[in-house]
Amino acid sequence: MTESSSTSSASDTREKTPIAPRSTAVAMVGVSAIVLALAFYMGWGTPALPSNYYAVCSHHQAVYTVDATNSRVECLVIRDSYIVQTGSLAEIQTIPNVAIRFIPTDAIVVPGLSDSHGHLLEYGASKQLPLEGTNTVNDTVARVREYILSNPSILNNPEAFIRGGGWDHTSWPGEAWPTAADLEADDIIRGRPVILQSKDCHAKWVSRRVLELSPPVESTTIDGGVVVMDEQMGVPSVFLDKAQDLLYEAPLTEAEQVSRFTRAVNDALAYGLTSVHDAGLDPESMEFFIRQAENGVDIPIRIYAMRAFNTTSSYWGNSTRPFVGVANGRLTARSVKIFADGALRTGGSAVIQLHEPYADHPHTRGFMLLDPEVLFEFIPWFLRDGWQVNVHAIGDRANGIVLDAFEAALEGVNVTALRPRLEHAQLMTREDMERLGKLGVIASVQPTHAISDMWYAEDRLGPERVKGLYAFRSLLSSGAKITLGSDFPVEDMNPLTGFYAAITRVSFDGNSPHGPDGWFPEERLTRIEALRGMTIDPAYASFTETQLGSLEVGKFADFVVLERDIMEIEARDVLNTRVLATVVDGRVVYGAL
Ligand SMILES: *[C@@H]1O[C@H](CO)[C@@H](O)[C@H](O)[C@H]1NC(C)=O
Ligand SMILES: *[C@@H]1O[C@H](CO)[C@@H](O)[C@H](O)[C@H]1NC(C)=O
Ligand SMILES: *[C@@H]1O[C@H](CO)[C@@H](O)[C@H](O)[C@H]1NC(C)=O
Ligand SMILES: *[C@@H]1O[C@H](CO)[C@@H](O)[C@H](O)[C@H]1NC(C)=O
Repeated sequence: MTESSSTSSASDTREKTPIAPRSTAVAMVGVSAIVLALAFYMGWGTPALPSNYYAVCSHHQAVYTVDATNSRVECLVIRDSYIVQTGSLAEIQTIPNVAIRFIPTDAIVVPGLSDSHGHLLEYGASKQLPLEGTNTVNDTVARVREYILSNPSILNNPEAFIRGGGWDHTSWPGEAWPTAADLEADDIIRGRPVILQSKDCHAKWVSRRVLELSPPVESTTIDGGVVVMDEQMGVPSVFLDKAQDLLYEAPLTEAEQVSRFTRAVNDALAYGLTSVHDAGLDPESMEFFIRQAENGVDIPIRIYAMRAFNTTSSYWGNSTRPFVGVANGRLTARSVKIFADGALRTGGSAVIQLHEPYADHPHTRGFMLLDPEVLFEFIPWFLRDGWQVNVHAIGDRANGIVLDAFEAALEGVNVTALRPRLEHAQLMTREDMERLGKLGVIASVQPTHAISDMWYAEDRLGPERVKGLYAFRSLLSSGAKITLGSDFPVEDMNPLTGFYAAITRVSFDGNSPHGPDGWFPEERLTRIEALRGMTIDPAYASFTETQLGSLEVGKFADFVVLERDIMEIEARDVLNTRVLATVVDGRVVYGAL
């Protein structure tokens, strides 16, 4: 690259160009400004940025490029949004006019990290009024009170809905359900509409005002749900599972949505994430994202959105168009998310679909959330209409059925052009792992779930079947492509937590049901596999491997400076490694260079 000569030729041309009459020049500026503004408003243009030209260097090969051979270099050169050169410090020092920024001695540079499966707005919601870790019901009530007192817009509006979540009555003395009266006892909270979701999301604890706004409760048991009564007062207090649908809840205000979004994005950037695959936006959330884009909001992170498909609504794959790179290039929605089954953790209630009954609930094999026929019908339609299809599947039977549907839909087509994904691919039979590899379906997996679930998984699944759970190495060996995510806010958003879980398969204090070498240690990933799983693999899983995911000339300058070398240090030290800088499109969006 000869940056200096191209700059001088540009100025030569400008000098030789005859100067247009002033009025024409003004008119031209006017028109182009309108075109630019329009393009920006439509969200399809990349706004012109002032020139940005610098190098990031180390004195040893501290830049992990994650290219095809996992090469390491000393320096990266960035011009505007792009990487224009990589190489040794000696080479880079010969380039005229490039400002060199050295990273600290122990630091490294890696490509911008990517989470292949998270939920931005839900994460923001979980941080709005977090109730995790409270020791008593009064503690919890006190947090709600503090929240109101510190938010004037809520304090001054007695009808403003107060939403929080994360409480767990089983960690309180006596383990009794909380009540509406507990909320009413506080003079700041009294009379206000309050809805507080439990940590496992199966229960909502509400205030008296919410009960007044909701239809009267006619029975304490409904199909798939229970209403827990406050025995003393004789009023409902907690709504379990399907009973939650009985409650009135005011729609989110724009301000609430913006605040959730901003919180999630800022936290993601602080963790070194430059891209997030949002695993399932309902229509309201999708509208919100699009509105952000249309309003010209400078979305600071790359968002790869999956539109949730609700099987009770009709097919929309040919009335809604996929879009790529709107809003300063950072918002894409070209995939659909379909749910096949539930979750492992919830066990006996909304369970996952297994071939054989649960070891600890022998009366059930779980159930599908939809009729398998629906998969066979809709998957080919979505693929035909240009959508990537990402199906949530946890249980071995659900994964098998989804693979059947993919297999039928993919016959004779180019799978690289379609890149279907299994979201979670948690429990799989050996045969289905082989099939996954053969079909070229991507397994989008969450290593942190493995170290959360390892303590009870064998009881639930039995000693043989559990070997197919979170079997990351086996998935890779079967030829399957994987991509890593966290499922935040269900797990920690910090990608280094996932990295640690993938390479160790031990808890944060270094233990596992199989000892300190890890739970099924043969299923651990190597560090480079884990790093690829958070960089180039998510890029492939989102059709962007030619632009993102590695530090190579011509790609976008998305990278992270980490305080320590996570590829070398003790695994436990990975967990407290700090992000020094996060850079998107060549601009620092968190920390400093
Ligand atoms: C909890 O708060 C209520 C109402 O403020 C109060 O009457 C009660 O004594 C408190 N309980 C404890 C254990 O502090
Ligand atoms: C699914 O769509 C139907 C009809 O549009 C709607 O009434 C229902 O609330 C939706 N369900 C979910 C879970 O989004
Ligand atoms: C959309 O696809 C469905 C299913 O193939 C089809 O029935 C419908 O006619 C299509 N609609 C349009 C507008 O093409
Ligand atoms: C399959 O699709 C990919 C991506 O669109 C393309 O690069 C490749 O050439 C295609 N392969 C064949 C055999 O058409």
